[in-house]
Amino acid sequence: MTIKLQIYKCNICGNIVQILNPGDGNLICCGQEMEHLKIQYDNSELGEKHTPKYTFKENEKFVSVIGHPMTTEHYIQFIETYTRDKNEVHIKFFYPDELPEMNITFMPEANDTIEYCNIHKLWGNNVMLENEKGDFSI
Ligand SMILES: [Fe+2]
Repeated sequence: MTIKLQIYKCNICGNIVQILNPGDGNLICCGQEMEHLKIQYDNSELGEKHTPKYTFKENEKFVSVIGHPMTTEHYIQFIETYTRDKNEVHIKFFYPDELPEMNITFMPEANDTIEYCNIHKLWGNNVMLENEKGDFSI
């Protein structure tokens, strides 16, 4: 049984899929079950480099991954944020040498933002925003 917005990866061919409509079946790719990518939360140095951060510039809101390499070998492939009910999703894909930053139009809450590193996989932000009720200053 899958859950809406879960992410799975095939460790043979590299396919990454996200659940848009949950079902009872197992996800198979290249003849084997796909890996369910669990969202990692970590206060270590590695976690610090992978945790999506919110920033506010005037009336605009951004989510970015700060201090992570963006080389051909090691980079942030995408950032995704969604509303608490998971009915609205914003995703942006990145390529080496780009700035891993995405403009968002709604106010994120804790656990509602993830990023995917091509080496260290899926990471999330579990820091509750002090100002989540609408004060955009940090
Ligand atoms: Fe990484």
